[in-house]
Amino acid sequence: MDLYNTSALFNQNMSKEQQDKFQEFYKKVFSEYDITTIHDCSVGAGGTTIPFARLGYQVSGSDLSENLLNKAKENFKREGYDVELFPCDFRKLGEVLPNTYDCIISTGNSLPHVNNQDVHEFIKNIATKINKDGLLFLDMRNWDKILKERPIFSARDPLVMTAEEHVSLYQIWNWHDDLSVDFIFVSSTDRQGKHEKTSILSAPTYYPLKFEAYEKMLNDNGFEVKSCFDVDGLWFKPQNEEMKTGNFQEDFDNIGWYAVLAQKVK
Ligand SMILES: C[S@@+](CC[C@H](N)C(=O)[O-])C[C@H]1O[C@@H](n2cnc3c(N)ncnc32)[C@H](O)[C@@H]1O
Repeated sequence: MDLYNTSALFNQNMSKEQQDKFQEFYKKVFSEYDITTIHDCSVGAGGTTIPFARLGYQVSGSDLSENLLNKAKENFKREGYDVELFPCDFRKLGEVLPNTYDCIISTGNSLPHVNNQDVHEFIKNIATKINKDGLLFLDMRNWDKILKERPIFSARDPLVMTAEEHVSLYQIWNWHDDLSVDFIFVSSTDRQGKHEKTSILSAPTYYPLKFEAYEKMLNDNGFEVKSCFDVDGLWFKPQNEEMKTGNFQEDFDNIGWYAVLAQKVK
């Protein structure tokens, strides 16, 4: 079953702890820029985007998945925000967006769901919808690192771990010849020590996007990278921390998830 057609991501980053962490991070990243309007082009259920609304930005969102958009409407409303949300493939956004924006964002490793050529087209089209000196913000998995390691299996943190119930989560990486990859998530539920069920969900295919390729696409379309951030602490439990120096370039091979803030300079 397709992950994005289920409720599995309905509450992603919606806990108070995660909301506070993202809000603090965004405050640090964006406070030096004079921006008001932010459009998230892969808003999902909104958990990663609501912290922008909390910081007072005027937020809107779009996504391919109507299932997740419906939940985003609920999540924003519950938090007290009435935002414009509509279905759209981000590859078509340049033609569809009603306004121009100070900042366009794509969070949660969403952009690599389309191949590199489509990412390039996306940046080219979206550039026309970003105001002068505006920003393009993205966070994604470190695909350079993933391609080097080519994992095929990883055990993730258990979803539930109580005396009565134990839900383990495993990820299988199904690599294709062109180096695109499908993530298959297997969860196994034991209750009172007895196996109850196994569920299998898969995400749409990912097309690895390397840092240098992404930076070139930005530069080719009039953007300049302003800052890059290690966001392992937001998306994972801190990892390889003892190997890190705090310098993005030096730490790159040990970072699992990062964010890139680019500014439209031409
Ligand atoms: C892992 S989720 C991340 C959602 C959200 N940004 C977050 O951080 O929680 C990936 C999202 O990308 C969306 N997506 C995938 N391909 C897309 C496309 N071509 N256009 C718009 N959204 C897309 C999916 O529907 C899904 O909501």
